Amino acid sequence: MEGRAVLGCVQTSHLNFCFGLSVGLVISFLIASFSSLQTPLILTRKYAANQFDSYLSSRSLQEVAGTYEEMHEEMDKRLSKNEVKEVLFEDDHKHHDDDAVARKLAEEIRILCWVMTGPQNLDKKAIHVKKTWGKRCTKLIFFSSVTNNTFPTIGLNVSEGREHLTGKTMQAFKYVHDNFFDEADWFMKADDDTYFIMENLRYFLSSQDKMEPVYFGHHFKTIVRQGYYSGGAGYILSKETLRRLATTGQDPKFCRQDGGAEDAELGKCMQNLGVRTANSTDALGRSRFHCFDPETHLMGGYPNWYYKYDANGAKKGLESISDYSVSFHYIKPESMYSLEFFVYHLRPYGIVAGNQDLNRRVTSYTKNATQSDKVKN
Ligand SMILES: *[C@@H]1O[C@H](CO)[C@@H](O)[C@H](O)[C@H]1NC(C)=O
Ligand SMILES: *[C@@H]1O[C@H](CO)[C@@H](O)[C@H](O)[C@H]1NC(C)=O
Ligand SMILES: *[C@@H]1O[C@H](CO)[C@@H](O)[C@H](O)[C@H]1NC(C)=O
Ligand SMILES: *[C@@H]1O[C@H](CO)[C@@H](O)[C@H](O)[C@H]1NC(C)=O
Repeated sequence: MEGRAVLGCVQTSHLNFCFGLSVGLVISFLIASFSSLQTPLILTRKYAANQFDSYLSSRSLQEVAGTYEEMHEEMDKRLSKNEVKEVLFEDDHKHHDDDAVARKLAEEIRILCWVMTGPQNLDKKAIHVKKTWGKRCTKLIFFSSVTNNTFPTIGLNVSEGREHLTGKTMQAFKYVHDNFFDEADWFMKADDDTYFIMENLRYFLSSQDKMEPVYFGHHFKTIVRQGYYSGGAGYILSKETLRRLATTGQDPKFCRQDGGAEDAELGKCMQNLGVRTANSTDALGRSRFHCFDPETHLMGGYPNWYYKYDANGAKKGLESISDYSVSFHYIKPESMYSLEFFVYHLRPYGIVAGNQDLNRRVTSYTKNATQSDKVKN
């Protein structure tokens, strides 16, 4: 019987030979996989880690958050060599998934997504956000330093460059507040290399109150007392939070209007406005928002700074990644399409996935952050 399963060997007289052959094949397969696949992966991780570490040694901790952009630039250099072609996913009719719950959530939980991009990235990166996960946002807006009516993008009154990301973010949220406040319940910022699974974001937010002063994302524990959220993994502001940001938050006494590291500055601003961070892990303690791509979170091999920053212990492996993950960062344009394929199209035949109940009551760390907690800059 065992012989039957292995290489179709049926006769017991051939069993020993078949067994030996199978073991041999398995071993050669393993050797081949490790030499051809594993090594480059490990090298890539090491390369990324070294990049970050050299940044760390040359910079103060405060500035580390800004190194994300350097990482982006590094990726851009590699990216610009081969142009990514759009993949069309127009085979919905072939799918038999029951999406009634997701459609209901999409009606009830309206999310405005705004994507931070720049004029040079529209055709390289932003377009692939638009063609993949972006279409599942209730409303999708691209902000850049230049208005482009074709794409379209909204141009903000800010120069391009890492040192102006805070300005871009502050202006974008103000614009969103002034023009689209009534059109959504939650307001999300993403980079043009972040991938979102909007159904899972809506599921998570279904356990949250948009009238609370809260915001969610991948939690870093440094710099700001209540911590702050990584810019690259994306963050989501409640309606009440957006209101505070667009009113009191316009005062430089509470929020820096430009300069510094965007995510850390927004973190200070949030704390000054009495907006709370909260634990967004799932019922099993697994992260939903991720600063890196899925491979990095599965295997670990994080850059050194991450161990100091991550509020959830920089865990790796499947136990630390929610089945209902919401976001991944450093996603190359081509990987947006493969994620799209894996998440929405590839199905193992004969397995029907049921919904799990993975939300839990989220506890705020700083129930009481008030404006008197203002961080000194
Ligand atoms: C506006 O965006 C379109 C589409 O991405 C692009 O082809 C065009 O070059 C852009 N125009 C300007 C002035 O940047
Ligand atoms: C753009 O920003 C500059 C410098 O911050 C400011 O002087 C100018 O008034 C702004 N323009 C508009 C149209 O808001
Ligand atoms: C969030 O909750 C999980 C599960 O209880 C816990 O393991 C984790 O340490 C918490 N994170 C923070 C930052 O407190
Ligand atoms: C917040 O702090 C004030 C004053 O310290 C206290 O009276 C109040 O009960 C606190 N509220 C919460 C929710 O902890």
